[in-house]
Amino acid sequence: MNKKASEIFDIPKKARRKKLIELIPDYEIDDVFRKTLENQKYNKISLNFWGNERKFLEIEAYYLKENNEVMLIINDYTPIQKMEENFKEFLGNASHELRTPLTSIQILIDLFSEKKITLEEIYSEFFPYLRREIERMSKLISNLLNLSRLEAGVIELQPKDVSLYESVINVLDRLSPHISKKNLKVSINLPENIVIFADPQYLDTILFNLIENAVKYTPSLGKIEVGVNDKNEYLVLWVQDTGIGIPEKDIDRIFDRFYRVSKSRTNEDGFSSGLGLSIVKKLVERHGWSIKVESKLGEGTKFEIIIPKRKEGNNI
Ligand SMILES: Nc1ncnc2c1ncn2[C@@H]1O[C@H](COP(=O)(O)OP(=O)(O)OP(=O)(O)O)[C@@H](O)[C@H]1O
Ligand SMILES: [Mg+2]
Repeated sequence: MNKKASEIFDIPKKARRKKLIELIPDYEIDDVFRKTLENQKYNKISLNFWGNERKFLEIEAYYLKENNEVMLIINDYTPIQKMEENFKEFLGNASHELRTPLTSIQILIDLFSEKKITLEEIYSEFFPYLRREIERMSKLISNLLNLSRLEAGVIELQPKDVSLYESVINVLDRLSPHISKKNLKVSINLPENIVIFADPQYLDTILFNLIENAVKYTPSLGKIEVGVNDKNEYLVLWVQDTGIGIPEKDIDRIFDRFYRVSKSRTNEDGFSSGLGLSIVKKLVERHGWSIKVESKLGEGTKFEIIIPKRKEGNNI
């Protein structure tokens, strides 16, 4: 047994030379082993293995004639399986989100054409509601479009010198209704004259998603800080919050498409698609930068973007 196999089945080193079923307590695996030994032919099965956590495995059993042995090859498809599950859940949510506003518009038209509501009621009640719904629809659609373009590689960056300070202020302005609703304290720790070489539109997407997350996942009266550190060879742009934090077991997965830590993490009615950070990561990498995250559950989160300076040294 190689190292990977003992990791998959949590088998301690000393435990070798035992019966298969004692090492791997799974009757389906034991069955395929026996069957292969008996009929001396190749067999393949897929199964869920319940160890410390559920794993989705494909087991291939080869009969080895010379020593009358069976070789098991274990393929661990858990990450792919999880992504598929996330994607299915996302599709369900997304179709629901897209259908809700359409149903509302339909009801509205019916009521209005049957003269059951007045124009006044439409203005005061339905329009603000529809506006919110449509904003959510457009956000979802533009996230999906951005992601599929990025994955297809058809996005061309058009980098130029951009004022980081102005970009940050611009994003904070757009988020200010949410910031004041939650009474969050925001501080900006960056020189006004700092300039980086970036595509302005995509830099905006990056900053917006990171700061939106900080706002979304920080409870009322919390603190958000945006800043830059100059490290000679590179700049570190950071967004820090005193929010709910990210559990350690999820931290490696938050940049995956459709991954959300859990549905119940915000009390906002805003729809969360789990696409924000995957778009951020792709855009950061397209710029030749990198992104890191540090987080403590219940204390807060800090995202850092490492931006190498251009050789001529003229991006600051
Ligand atoms: N600053 C943060 N504090 C705590 N948790 C965070 C923070 N940023 C991201 N997360 C967690 O990481 C997950 C993935 O974030 P991401 O931005 O990709 O998706 P989202 O915010 O759920 O949805 P979307 O951005 O598409 O509206 C979130 O669901 C959230 O649980
Ligand atoms: Mg987000």
